[in-house]
Amino acid sequence: MSLLISLRRVSKSVEGEEILREVSLEVKRGEFVSVIGPSGSGKSTLLYIMGLLDRPTSGEVFFDGEKVDFSDEERLSEIRNRRIGFVFQFHYLIPELTALENVMVPMIKAGMSRKEAEERACDLLRVFGLSGKERRKPYQLSGGEQQRVAIARAVANDPDLILADEPTGNLDTKNTEIVMDLLEDLNSSGTTIVMVTHDAELSIRADRTIEIRDGRLV
Ligand SMILES: Nc1ncnc2c1ncn2[C@@H]1O[C@H](COP(=O)(O)OP(=O)(O)OP(=O)(O)O)[C@@H](O)[C@H]1O
Ligand SMILES: [Mg+2]
Repeated sequence: MSLLISLRRVSKSVEGEEILREVSLEVKRGEFVSVIGPSGSGKSTLLYIMGLLDRPTSGEVFFDGEKVDFSDEERLSEIRNRRIGFVFQFHYLIPELTALENVMVPMIKAGMSRKEAEERACDLLRVFGLSGKERRKPYQLSGGEQQRVAIARAVANDPDLILADEPTGNLDTKNTEIVMDLLEDLNSSGTTIVMVTHDAELSIRADRTIEIRDGRLV
């Protein structure tokens, strides 16, 4: 299998503090990798760097064979918009927009027509069990429903890679199962997934688990 993303000795310092220390890792196309570790160990920071949202202080990142140039904003956003879907620790739906519009945003950004984006957003919301709730704003949806909207948004452009940071963090057992099933289905259809979780039972459902402590892989 080919490598989708690899990090070579990636370090990240903020205000003199080393948050990530020489992290090297490779994720193959089609893999489902979980990332575990204590609070503050650097999991989200690692995910932001893999998602090209944050730049390392030193080290190299390769995405699909291409060395990432963190000073080339245009290329960065091209890769981010078209090839990576992010499900954040706190879902960050846009509060003023409806569920439908939230899912449409990345498609519009990638240049899709409004009509086409709306059709696909509708389809995705239906697949994720949200039919009839397209016109609701995030505050009119439950936490589990909001998280499903966030996943629909993350997969809107059919990304190669989904980065999910505690996607089930604030959910009850039933909604956790729904979200995990969605991620596993996406993975079965070929999408590579890297998921941060503090839940050991969820992490063992991945193909492989990476553990991070004090900014280092263990
Ligand atoms: N922009 C920043 N400026 C300063 N410190 C930061 C910044 N981002 C993260 N940190 C620090 O880096 C460390 C790692 O943070 P990170 O968010 O990656 O941890 P985490 O493993 O995701 O934790 P949690 O499980 O609580 O989400 C923490 O000590 C945090 O305070
Ligand atoms: Mg975090």
